[in-house]
Amino acid sequence: MSDPKLAQKQAAAKSALTYIDDGMILGVGTGSTVNCLIELLPQVRLKGAVTSSQVTEDKLRALGIEIFDLNTVGELDLYVDGADEIDPHGNMIKGGGGALTREKIVAACAKTFVCMVDDSKTVEKLGKFPVAVEVLPQARSYVARELVKLGGDPVYREGFVTDYGNVILDTYDLDIKNPSELEKTLNNIVGVVCNGIFASQSAHIMLKAGNDGVITVKF
Ligand code: 5RP
Repeated sequence: MSDPKLAQKQAAAKSALTYIDDGMILGVGTGSTVNCLIELLPQVRLKGAVTSSQVTEDKLRALGIEIFDLNTVGELDLYVDGADEIDPHGNMIKGGGGALTREKIVAACAKTFVCMVDDSKTVEKLGKFPVAVEVLPQARSYVARELVKLGGDPVYREGFVTDYGNVILDTYDLDIKNPSELEKTLNNIVGVVCNGIFASQSAHIMLKAGNDGVITVKF
């Protein structure tokens, strides 16, 4: 099926390229917007990349880009990724592709997070898109009950296992009045590995593509 937002994703990716310097070890996210960026990366002479998923890693290796272990590179200058939703403060919901934990780890190690979005992703308040909660398999039912107590409606992402061997509960209907607080509350449930609210690792720069071009927003 063709992606009606493909041209906008490509435009946002082209803008992101201007933040990437030769010789960099780049943090690379996951998803269809990132895939547009990956297609452009042969234009840059990267030293290499740290990736947020096996899928991205495979694509970069196919281009001949060296992959570094995050533990060996210290702080990264730049992490570039997409988002499922982004609010006016740069807080995001991510994890539609299930790579949220590795994305958050790589983002935490980067000085700057550039988020590329098409104009369907910006929202006043996060929460229409479900919050992916990565859970240790044994804790799935317990965590689901705790999410219900918080007002959420968790749906088990059937047939999906994360790169870390865990499962995902896509949680609808959470009232995300305070993204930072809810992110911590979810992390505090025993058995939760990570959740898709990115307030602790919010974006520093948003590149938002619309029909009239790409707007840069600094947070
Ligand atoms: C994957 C993610 C992606 O960044 C998010 O789902 C956006 O993806 P896309 O660019 O395909 O819309 O968080 O876990």
